[in-house]
Parts: sequence; C-alpha cells; structure tokens
Amino acid sequence: MKNLSIGMFDSGVGGLTVLKEVRELLPHENIVYLGDTARVPYGNRSPRTIVRYALESALFLLTKGIKILVIACNTSSALAINILSRKMPVPVIGVIEPGAKEAVKATRKKRIGIIGTKATIKSKAYEYSIKKMDPGVEVISKACPLFVPIVEEGLQDDDVAYIMAEKYLKEIKMSGVDTLVMGCTHYPVLEGVIKDVMGPYIHIINTGKETAKEVKNRLQIKGQLRTKGRGLCRYFVTDSPETFREIGSRFLREELSRIRYIKSLDYKDFILS
Ligand code: DGL
Repeated sequence: MKNLSIGMFDSGVGGLTVLKEVRELLPHENIVYLGDTARVPYGNRSPRTIVRYALESALFLLTKGIKILVIACNTSSALAINILSRKMPVPVIGVIEPGAKEAVKATRKKRIGIIGTKATIKSKAYEYSIKKMDPGVEVISKACPLFVPIVEEGLQDDDVAYIMAEKYLKEIKMSGVDTLVMGCTHYPVLEGVIKDVMGPYIHIINTGKETAKEVKNRLQIKGQLRTKGRGLCRYFVTDSPETFREIGSRFLREELSRIRYIKSLDYKDFILS
C-alpha cells in the first residue's frame, strides 16, 4: 500500500502549485497527476459539468493504483468533494478545508478574504467551511477570473497583473480583512503582486501548502507514508503534452518529463485502451 501513488487532479496546469508543495513535504512519495488541459478552465462552468469532469478524473486516477486522492483544483474541490468522498474507495482530500482551517487559525480580527474562480466563489464553499469552524468570522469574497489567463500567459510580473490585482482586491482591502485565502491553484504564482497590493500586514494563505500537510497527516495516521527512495512524478494530460511541459515547467521552475497524452477521460475509452 505504501508504494502506491498519491493521485492528484486539476483542470489543467494550475494544480502543479499543489503538487509542488506535496512533493516538497513528501519527497519519497510517487505522484500521478492528471491535468484535464483539453477542458480547462473549469472556473466558468456550471456545477453539474464540474462534478462530471471531477468524477471522470477521479475514476481515471483510480486505474493508476493510488492510495489517496487529492483534488488539487479549488473549483472541483468546491463542487465535488462531497460526492467524491462518498464514492471513492480511497481517502479524498480537497484544497478548501485545509485552507479554511488555516485561515480561521490565522485571523485575529475574524475577517477573512477569499479569492477564487467564479464557480468557487459562487459555491460559497470556503465560506461554509469557515463558518462551520467559527460562525463568528466574517467572510468577504471576490472572483478574480482574469488571474488564471494572466498567469498562464506568464504575465505575473507585468503591469496587467498589478492593474487587475488593484481592481479585484479593492473591496477586500477596504473591508479590513487581516487574512486572505488564495482560493485558486494559479494564485500562488501571483503571491508577490497580491502582497504588494494588500500591504505588509495581511496573512496570505496558500491552500496548496495546507493541503500538503493534510495529505501527510492522513497518510501518517494510516501508516502509509513512504519513507525511503526518491518519489517519481508522472503526468497525464488531455491536450498537448508540449504546452503542458512549457507552462508547467514555468510553474514548477524545472523541466517536466514523463508526460503522457490521454485521448479521453470517458472511462469506456481509457479502460479499453
Ligand atoms: N484550477 C482552477 C482552480 O483552482 C483554476 C483554473 C480553472 O478555472 O479551471 O479553481
């Protein structure tokens, strides 16, 4: 069991920010990552579609022999964690709860800001999770849909990133939050910009980092931590491996290898192929 992989999926390349944290904390683990690059972005889609895509990704990863499933995508975690936790034969960890937990721990003023895709913000998943832990916390949320293409185009240090951050974060900043959750896989790449705009006193939560700790915790409790050998990462994508390699290498700041294209996430296709 220990030698089985950690399965992770995301709508595309963004989940690599979560993979980076998991790999740093758990260097001995093998990871199998699925990026549904043919259908990214999920963040503007309907809940029904997001749940269907998440189920397909999870089923695909199950065929690869995994001991735990990490939903690296905030949008998929927001909409599909309940159904996946019920249906999967392995433990399922999303990015919302670990991020929310850390935010509740960090806030002194009991005011937390959340930024994410339209679907994540509309779902109120972070808000529900935070209020369940502490009903007295006020949550101020804002969808920042243009952050994803800005990061994927490599424009995180460009003026456009600053202009959009000023615009998106204005209300949250004015509301006097002391803690801000980066509720989308791509936002850690913009952490410097977000910090500059929000000022030095804001506590910024990286959900990927918190999720990695939770993965470690769960595997430890189950006695399934791999403690020896160098872990290997394998990647599967539903669109061009070259594009994934190019953008992903920028995300991870290293050359990616072992990337395989899969034609379809319809289980009838991949089980038979
Ligand atoms: N991975 C998505 C998330 O974390 C962002 C990209 C998308 O919209 O699919 O919400």
